[in-house]
Amino acid sequence: MQVASLKNVSRSYGKGAAKVDAVRDASIEILNNRFTVLSGPSGSGKTTLLNLIGCIDKADTGSVSVAGVDVDRMRDNALSDFRASHIGFIFQNFNLLPVLSAVENVEYPLTLLGVRAAERRRTALALLDAVGLAQQAKRRPGELSGGQRQRVAIARALATGPALVLADEPTANLDSRTGIEIIELMRTMQRERATSFVFSSHDPNVLSSADDIILIKDGAIVETRRDVRNGRPS
Ligand SMILES: Nc1ncnc2c1ncn2[C@@H]1O[C@H](COP(=O)(O)OP(=O)(O)OP(=O)(O)O)[C@@H](O)[C@H]1O
Ligand SMILES: [Mg+2]
Repeated sequence: MQVASLKNVSRSYGKGAAKVDAVRDASIEILNNRFTVLSGPSGSGKTTLLNLIGCIDKADTGSVSVAGVDVDRMRDNALSDFRASHIGFIFQNFNLLPVLSAVENVEYPLTLLGVRAAERRRTALALLDAVGLAQQAKRRPGELSGGQRQRVAIARALATGPALVLADEPTANLDSRTGIEIIELMRTMQRERATSFVFSSHDPNVLSSADDIILIKDGAIVETRRDVRNGRPS
């Protein structure tokens, strides 16, 4: 079963001579309960593609379906509600709210969904514990290391129990050892929570942690490799 599927999706920026075809006629299927790496050189269209899968951006042509819902024709309000309850995001620069503590940052997506305070706190503390930050729950992002901030962001992305978590170069601002720890943590969380992660990277070293690899070049999907890690037949 797939958690997201794109059919013949294109997205360009600009007009005339300045037009850039960031994603060209891309068709992909993101399967349930997998760790998928979207890999390609800088400028190949990874962020554009993740924004389309994440319903942050809309395709010019083609169709996008997430968690069984065709999102193409959804109105903006409905789309942001859908996004808030079904998709978690992890960013390169962590994107935590600086005035909120770690636990408040993790609670934030639940606040948006109207979950009551006691339940929010319980969920957020359990997630911080799961990412190894039980002791740091009251600290603000400015009082945490880069790796710890990204752990908070992983906990936040999982707070609503999303069907799909999208991570755009989540290790780009970390040293390589911390980056490997963060990938391993995402892997563990993906398995334990039976959700799907899509992780973009231009670092070939991260490919070894993937179940499935989607290779993109100049906006076009050039290859999809399934079951890479487990050695199962594709
Ligand atoms: N808002 C924008 N306006 C105009 N062009 C854009 C915009 N965003 C991206 N592009 C162009 O679209 C193409 C794909 O960009 P995208 O950010 O998706 O690549 P990427 O694979 O994420 O790159 P990186 O690895 O550097 O993050 C690039 O040529 C980029 O310059
Ligand atoms: Mg990018």
